[in-house]
Formats: sequence, structure tokens, C-alpha cells
Amino acid sequence: MITKPTIDRIMEATDIVEVIGEFVQLKKRGANYVGLSPFANERTPSFTVSPAKGIFKDFSSGKGGSAITFLMELEKFTYPEALKWLAKKYGIEVEETIESTENREEENRRESLMIVSGYAAKFFHESLLDTDEGQSIGLSYFKERGFSNETIKKFELGYSPDQWEAFTGQALKDGYQEEFLAETGLSVKRDNGSLYDRYRGRVMFPIHSFTGRVIAFGGRTLKSDKNVPKYVNSPESEIYHKSNVLYGLFFAKKAIREEDNCYLVEGYADVLSVHQAGIENVVASSGTSLTVEQIRLISRFTKNITILYDGDAAGIKASLRGLDMILQEGLNVKVVLFPDGHDPDSFVRNFGTNGFKKHIDENKKDFILFKTDILLKEAGNDPIKKAEVIREIVESIAKIPDSIKASVFIKECSYQLQIDERALLSELNKMRSAKAKKDGQQGFRTAPADEPQFDEPEVRIERADEFTQEKEIIRLLLLYGNKVIDWDGIANTYIGPFMIAELSDVEFENTTCKVFVEIYRREVENGVLPDEQYFIHYADKEIVDLAVNQIATKYTLSENWYEMHKILVNDEQVNMKATILGAIFHLKKQKVGKILEGLRKELQNTSAEADQEILLNQYMHMKKVEKTISDYLGSVILK
Ligand code: GTP
Ligand code: MN
Repeated sequence: MITKPTIDRIMEATDIVEVIGEFVQLKKRGANYVGLSPFANERTPSFTVSPAKGIFKDFSSGKGGSAITFLMELEKFTYPEALKWLAKKYGIEVEETIESTENREEENRRESLMIVSGYAAKFFHESLLDTDEGQSIGLSYFKERGFSNETIKKFELGYSPDQWEAFTGQALKDGYQEEFLAETGLSVKRDNGSLYDRYRGRVMFPIHSFTGRVIAFGGRTLKSDKNVPKYVNSPESEIYHKSNVLYGLFFAKKAIREEDNCYLVEGYADVLSVHQAGIENVVASSGTSLTVEQIRLISRFTKNITILYDGDAAGIKASLRGLDMILQEGLNVKVVLFPDGHDPDSFVRNFGTNGFKKHIDENKKDFILFKTDILLKEAGNDPIKKAEVIREIVESIAKIPDSIKASVFIKECSYQLQIDERALLSELNKMRSAKAKKDGQQGFRTAPADEPQFDEPEVRIERADEFTQEKEIIRLLLLYGNKVIDWDGIANTYIGPFMIAELSDVEFENTTCKVFVEIYRREVENGVLPDEQYFIHYADKEIVDLAVNQIATKYTLSENWYEMHKILVNDEQVNMKATILGAIFHLKKQKVGKILEGLRKELQNTSAEADQEILLNQYMHMKKVEKTISDYLGSVILK
């Protein structure tokens, strides 16, 4: 277990806006920050971060919590993983108690797989730098390709020895389990059950998750033998879904945000060379055709993608259709071609950073115009083919959610296609209304196309349920538990302990509320007054969720509701006694109501007279209690 002082240091250093800002583009809105939810596909930001409280709340998915919860939700980290990630970010040394080694087995599978992958990256990296074979074969290859020591270190490039069990043998000796070696694909099982190395005599490119942990590998052969696959990549595993991963994103995301643009290339080598040239906002889809998930990953950081193609015409044409989905996601797509025989890697090495940038500036084309160009050239003078091109282009334009942008393209394409703008527009409108109809039938939200990107956060209000009253108690404990009571008749105590004492005869039904109150009670007995921050950073996610949901109500987090909040908070604070006692007695009344209900049912089902009498007595007694509570609520509390 990570020690308490370490946890405290991590909490102190953590700036939630900074942490979340690594994944979500945030805009300042009054005291808070808003952005597009990384958990839902939304166009109107409903994701809110409150630096003052150190929490986020996503009104789309309902998720909320601290920076730690955020990492757990997004990266599927465990609690200790999230803490370690933060510790690394803020340069804090992590102290752990001895239990942790015993706990190694208990660490969940994902963590084990990442640990094995991290270990493998280190093994390959060291074998590249520190062994004769690695230096003479792997390192000299990288040097020949112009990769600097810095690049090799930064991207943790490596070399896998040309033997059958060099890695597997060492890993087993160091105590790594066969199960995880096989699951990550680092080792392959023979028929007799023994394991051998998947990567032999290859230079290794570790693939990092976008929080920087190694989750997979690409291994390039150094042989020119056509029968040997050029790249061997990790298989899909619990930690590696290749459609969700972009090579280099971890190293690029800061620059992508700063430059507000992302270069998309094809290969590992392209990423490395371009990055090394100082153009760091570059990622690769690594052999797969671009997926929607990858696009959404990029769109968290920027709305602008520039695709850098090597000049292979067949490949380009094949990918054109797939690119429409980038338009659909509302991104701006530009395309740059490189002259025949050049890819971004070779171009930047030949012409340097400035030559590379100049080429991009002079040759970048908007995707639609680029596509029109290519298709037109192909259609030549064939009128039927040309009509088909027009249809296809308008189809692409119809996917652009921003109607102003779309009409600009219509104008430009009408020139390119030499066809009247009005004809294109009417075609566009036809497609649009057909699409709207289809979407409508499927129950999609048909948002206006040119919806502003950052208007007021959408607020979704939690519905009342049977636990609303229990949750209200939690809310008051969080908000006012550490305030001193100064009411007539009651003084010299804090609201929290007072409420806990008053509620000692109440059984909470909602499990999380129940646990929450138990924690509160336990801490009070230990002489501690747990506050908002205590619960926001609690190790149990359910508790954090509950706390955040109560703190981050519509009143506290959304600017929309700010004015209302002041009124409401004033109201409840002006008559604190009524607020607190009201909540306590409302809950008690609800519980008594439930007991009465139960007794009523029992009475109906009981035929023995003696039993009936007992039940009836109980019933009358509870009725009296209910009356007392009602009178109290009516007369004393509510005006
Ligand atoms: P260099 O030839 O070293 O410049 O490699 P590159 O990284 O530029 O690769 P290339 O342009 O040939 O291919 C682009 C990407 O496709 C690579 O980075 C790999 O991710 C993937 N790829 C290429 N060849 C293979 C292969 O044989 N098998 C698999 N699985 N992927 C490949
Ligand atoms: Mn290449």
C-alpha cells in the first residue's frame, strides 16, 4: 500500500485542471472550466471542472470525482495506479508499505500486463544499448536512419536478441508469470506448452498508451528477405486495442494542444523523424486504416488534422472514403502529398525542418478539394463518371456539421467541378433532409449544424428517487458538517456529529449512503471531522461518486445555476436549524412511513387475533411517532 504521507503529498501537488487538461481541452468559464466530455460523444460541453473544489463533473455521463477518479475512469487505472501516475507527473517519490509485494499477485490483470510490457520495453532498450549484438545490429541501424540518442531514449526504442528464448527466459527468471507473457504476445506458446520469444532479431518500437505506459510493441525486421514480415506487432490484448491507439500520441499531445493541429502519418519511422525534427505534434495510425476511436482521441486535443501521405496513389484513393468520418466528427481535415518516393521520414531528413514545414504550407489542401481533384482526374471526360464524382463530393460535404463551412466548400467545389453552385446546393439540401429524417427516426438528436462549440454547459438534473432524502443528509454533512452549531438551545457542537447522533436510530437503505454515514461516524469517534476533500479523495470510488454528486449539484457547479445557487444556499443557511432538522426529520418520517406500510401489510396477512393485537399496538404507536414528527416538521421547522 502507498503510505499516507505519500498520498497527502500527491494530493497537495495535484492541480485538477492541469491533470484533466492533458486529456480534455478546457475553457475557462467563470470560476470553473468546461470542455467536451471524454466519456460521451457530445457537441455541447457538459463537462465541468471546479479547481476550487478539486472536482470534475460530467453532466453527460454522470461521472464525477477528483483528479484520481478521473484517471481511474478514463485510463481504467486502479486507485494505486492513478496515484502513481500523479506522483510521476509531479515528481513525488512513492513510499509503499511492505504489503505491496505480497499484493503483487492481487494487482489486477491489466496492471500485471502493463508491468510485463514495461519490463519488456526496458529489456529491449537495455539490450539495444548495453549488449554487443544490440549495439552492432540494432543501434547501428537506428543511427544509420538518423535517430539521435535522445530520440532513442525518449521513445524507448529497443532491440530483441536473435535467439529463441532470450527475453522469455529472462522474464521467467525475474518472476514474471507465463500467463501474462503469453497474453501480451511477448511470448508465444509451443505445442508442448513452453514459451518462446515473438520478437527475434528485430528493432523494437514500444507503443505507449496516451498516459505513457507501454501497452504493445512493433518490431521491425532488419532483413530484406521478402518472406519475412517487415513488422510484427503485438496482438490485441486486455490492454491493447489497436483501433484505440495512436502511435506517438503520448509524446505529441502537449504539442498538439499548443499548435492546435495534429499531423497524421503512416509509420513509426515517420513519427520519430518528424518529432526529432522538432515538429512534435505528430502521430501514426500504424498500419491500420484510421478508426473513429482514433479520430475522437485526436479531437480531444484539437479539431484540426493534417494528413501527410507518401505519394502512393492507390493507397490514397482507398483511404478517401474512410476520411469522410473525420468530417462527420466535425474536424477540419487538410491533406499534404509528398513527392514520389518520399515519405515524411525521408523528406524531413532530406530537406530539414524548414523545408518540411515549407512543403506542408505550400501543398496542404483542404480534404474536400483534394478529394475532388483526385476523383476528377480519374473521371477524365466521361460525363457519367463525372456525375458520380459530383454526387460523392456533395455526400462528403453533407457530412460537415458546420453549415457555414459546408457552403464555403460548395462554392469552391462548384468552381472546381464547373457546375452551378445552386445545383450543388439543392443536391446538398436533398441529402441533408434525407439524413435528418433518417436520424430522426433513429431517435438521434438533430442538433442545428452550426451549433456554437462552447456555449453554456448542459445541465442534467439528477432525478428524485427513493433515496433522495438519504442523499440530502449526505449533502448537508458534506457542506455543513464542520460548521459550528449556534442555535437557541443547542450550541458548542458541530453540525456533522450532531446529525450523526440524531440519526443513530435510522437505518440507511442505500448501501453507499449507509457506508458513508458509517465512515463519518467512525471518524467522528476518532476525533476527526471529515470534510468535502476527505470524501472526494476517498479510496472507494462509490463513496467518491456519491460525494461528488452531492457537492456538484446543478447549484454548485454550473454557471447557469449560479444565481439560483446563491439564493438557495442563502435560504438554507439563513435558517440552518430548519435546514438540518428538516432533513433529519423528513428522513425519519419517511422511515416511519415505511414501517407503517409494513405493519399494515402484516396486519392484512395475519389471522391470529393475539398477533393482530400486538401488530395493532405497534401500528398505533408508530402512528403517534409519525404524528409527532409531522407536527414538529410543520410547526417548528417549516415556518
Ligand atoms: P520503414 O520502412 O522502416 O521506414 O518503416 P515505416 O515505419 O515507415 O513503415 P511503412 O511506411 O512501411 O509502413 C507503415 C506502417 O504500417 C508501419 O509503421 C507499420 O505499423 C505498418 N506495417 C508495415 N509493414 C507491416 C507488416 O509487414 N506487418 C504489419 N503488421 N504491419 C506493417
Ligand atoms: Mn518509412
